Amino acid sequence: MSSKLEFFDFAAWTQFIPESEIRRLLRYDVPYYFAGGKPGAIPVDVFAKILIELGTEQLEKIKKGPEGKQEVIDEYNYGPTAGLRSFRETLAKYLREKDGIPLSKEDGWKEIVITTGSQQAIYTILDTLIDPGDAILTPAPVYLGFVTPAEKLGAKVICIPTDLNGIIPEYVEEALQAVEKSDEIKKTPEILYVIADSDNPKGTTLPTKRRKQLFDIAETWNLLIIEDAAYREIQFKNEKLPAIKSFDKENQRVAYLRTTSKEAAPFRVGYSVMPDALREQVIKDKGYLDLCTPSLIQKILNIYYANYLEKTLPEITKIYEKRCKAMCNAIDETFPEGERTNPTGGFFVWWQSKKMFDAKKFLEEVALPNQILYVPGHSFYPIRGYAYNPDTKRIEKSSPNINTMRLGFSYRDEKIIETGIKKLGKLLTEKLK
Ligand SMILES: Cc1ncc(COP(=O)(O)O)c(C=O)c1O
Repeated sequence: MSSKLEFFDFAAWTQFIPESEIRRLLRYDVPYYFAGGKPGAIPVDVFAKILIELGTEQLEKIKKGPEGKQEVIDEYNYGPTAGLRSFRETLAKYLREKDGIPLSKEDGWKEIVITTGSQQAIYTILDTLIDPGDAILTPAPVYLGFVTPAEKLGAKVICIPTDLNGIIPEYVEEALQAVEKSDEIKKTPEILYVIADSDNPKGTTLPTKRRKQLFDIAETWNLLIIEDAAYREIQFKNEKLPAIKSFDKENQRVAYLRTTSKEAAPFRVGYSVMPDALREQVIKDKGYLDLCTPSLIQKILNIYYANYLEKTLPEITKIYEKRCKAMCNAIDETFPEGERTNPTGGFFVWWQSKKMFDAKKFLEEVALPNQILYVPGHSFYPIRGYAYNPDTKRIEKSSPNINTMRLGFSYRDEKIIETGIKKLGKLLTEKLK
């Protein structure tokens, strides 16, 4: 018997793009939750205060009569697709003064695009740049929220090896040379995606020298760098390393993607600075995706960034730093032989076992029945991608490192992290003895 659903002729991508592993794992509600990077330190008291502030201001206006009411209706209506001017001005000042991003005092705000999460900036950039068959370079492993949309749009993803300091610039250059000899990759890559600060999934941070090297490679090879700075604010040390974007004085080489989601999770607003021509296309695309990001959300965040962030951020990062330390200590104490990263910010630690084992199978058969959830490392590789192999100096089919896992420390407190990770360590040691 045929069901009605069979009449739908789904697009080809639906056949090879699976549901995101992280979204899937969000369904499990276990005590030892180390899977998705759910922010666990959120200044909800401050947000409640801002809501009262805004609500009181609205009521005052409404009380004045029909004109006041109309003013409120207009303020909270559909806004410009690129975002509210007042919010963009606050963010431009913030990026100029605190992050060294070259934005002019007078009209730097025009270069800021507000998106619904930085995920929308990723999607719209890819959507406006990728034609099927285009090649792009990413680290291996890579944030699946970048790599999966890229593949959905038909990109050929080439993964570059990483170490404990992130993507290795020499291999980026070698991969670009290897592409010229590859039979499968027909076009020279035009995009390099990196997370310079506290990468997802590995938690590594690129040293300044590598940031500069990548920028120089982008200049030489005419690449656009997509610098995803999702964890730029969640840094445990006071000093931040220079953003790759800060080298881009002419605003031609780097799309710099920031988000409020990690320090102000309930609102999920992204803000980015990118070359002018790209920005125009991205705004056009966003116009068809969601018309505009809600005005109310932008107003709340504008107050938060202008008046509160400086005070709340050190409190938030302190919490994550303690959780990270608790996780790393418990790994060192109880895990079998392997290698972990040493995050200086962000939400994640990456662990690779010395012995071969299947971390996905282990999750299902051992960890989950013991109420422990992590993301198996295989999720962070392209579905049909390629990888640069430094030994053969060739572009080959990519395959995931299955003896790896991403452990998130953002959501649970130190006590739970310590107990859960030690429990996991014991189970892994039994398995891999
Ligand atoms: C590296 C990275 N980029 C982008 C995003 C998307 O963030 P947003 O909530 O701003 O859409 C995430 C979220 O987990 C992330 O980890």
